[in-house]
Amino acid sequence: MSNESAPPFDRLVKALTSTISLKIVMAVTGLLGAGFVLFHMVGNLQVFIGPEALNNYAEFMQGLGGIKWVVRLGLLTILTLHVASAVALVQRNAAARPEGYAETKRKRTSLAAMYMAELGIVLLLFIVYHLGHFTIGWFHADLGYEAMETVDGVARHDLYEHVIHSFRQPAIAITYIVANLALAAHLAHGVTSMFKTVGFAAGRWRVPFEVLGPAFGVIIGLGNISMPLAVLTGLIGGN
Ligand code: HEM
Repeated sequence: MSNESAPPFDRLVKALTSTISLKIVMAVTGLLGAGFVLFHMVGNLQVFIGPEALNNYAEFMQGLGGIKWVVRLGLLTILTLHVASAVALVQRNAAARPEGYAETKRKRTSLAAMYMAELGIVLLLFIVYHLGHFTIGWFHADLGYEAMETVDGVARHDLYEHVIHSFRQPAIAITYIVANLALAAHLAHGVTSMFKTVGFAAGRWRVPFEVLGPAFGVIIGLGNISMPLAVLTGLIGGN
């Protein structure tokens, strides 16, 4: 049966799961994810200003109430669509690739480009660990998950204490450093790649967008790694 004579729903499914649709879904969700990562890093970097700044920020975020849950649901949807389209594209590429071609292609691309899927798996594992650590309290709950401070007679979560106690543990700090190196590499290739998908990184814009991805990866990597590193070395949080 040709596509034209197929039922409308089947045609819609086919259009939505076409390779270009999947690539656009990856690009748009990647861009939104990169935006979140930047916003999150800027918020967290307030740990360098001190306990009050970080705890004020945490209190503000917690106080968003319903909006917070809309954002959380949005992030979950973005992540699910990003991973699902990546899996579909990897399967499609593997099915379309003639025997022996894979190796030739791998040699022509950057290290990050070669290992995007593997880096993605590391990041997925990190996200589960990270939420279990800071947000849900599955892991290391004894390191400040329930720490409180009183400001003007009102008790609030002492996130600063939680972050400092956590990153004083070398194993935790190193896990965050390694995961954020993976994130930096994933972004370095992914950000440029998504602008190529949507056609922006072409002509005289090709080089600027080729620089943007690695530059963004380095900024996020350095910013995120600086926090566990600063605590581990005693630069912040005392001893
Ligand atoms: C060194 C790097 C990072 C630090 C220090 C950090 C720190 C934190 C902290 C302290 C929280 C809990 C906030 C609170 O309870 O108020 C949190 C939540 C979260 N982090 Fe991170 N984070 C880092 C990297 C990342 C990365 C790379 C991602 C994603 C790829 C990420 C995704 C999230 C998400 C989704 C939440 C949950 C937000 C919510 O509660 O709705 N974080 N992070």
